[in-house]
Amino acid sequence: MDASGSQSNQVYPPPSSNNAVGSSNTKILITYASVNGSTKEIATQIGSIISSKIQSPTTVSILPMDQVTELPQYQFIIIGSAVHNFEWVSPAKSWLSSNHTILSAKRVWAFSVGTPFAVGKFAQRMMESEEEESKLEKAITDEIGKVEDHVLFNGRFLKSHASTRFNVWWRVMGGKFGDFRDTEKIDSWAEEVGNKIIESLGELEMA
Ligand SMILES: Cc1cc2nc3c(=O)[nH]c(=O)nc-3n(C[C@H](O)[C@H](O)[C@H](O)COP(=O)(O)O)c2cc1C
Repeated sequence: MDASGSQSNQVYPPPSSNNAVGSSNTKILITYASVNGSTKEIATQIGSIISSKIQSPTTVSILPMDQVTELPQYQFIIIGSAVHNFEWVSPAKSWLSSNHTILSAKRVWAFSVGTPFAVGKFAQRMMESEEEESKLEKAITDEIGKVEDHVLFNGRFLKSHASTRFNVWWRVMGGKFGDFRDTEKIDSWAEEVGNKIIESLGELEMA
């Protein structure tokens, strides 16, 4: 799970942008399970885009899954996890399973962080990235019924993240090491999610 502990908690204050909108008692949660930091950094990037669109008293909280309390208080939830062996990491799978009843009644978006881009040709034949993306989405929807959207982002994969044995196998398979994050793709997904939330906030205010 995330090694950074409580330092990673963030609740964004009201932004200064005049275009931002907000609604009373509305809370947005971005929660993640990260092993080596890239999922946490992507969650923070998503949070910063969304919070720039939202005005007080709506709040945007970014928390590791193991630090989320009072999940029912959030109206909009974005969940993300690092991918190991074509699945969300175990703490994320357990969290999803423990909270499936609450999550199935909420508006939920999901993101996975793997390295499909870094996989060598041989492994690509074993699992195309689209296939990996839809398999990951199916595992989530099997637990909570539906998601508004799911996306697979590339993260960072360094030699120090795995055992020497794994690294040798990875190289033999043609795999690469590095930081494969696509900032534009992350920003654009966060923009879309933010716009959907704003649309819903507008509907709430008119109701
Ligand atoms: C043991 C291990 C297994 C992994 N398995 C996969 C995988 O099946 N599919 C994938 O796309 N990425 C896989 N990765 C790459 C990670 O998902 C990637 O490094 C991601 O950025 C991890 O997120 P984190 O930095 O938040 O931990 C694996 C990495 C490790 C260390």
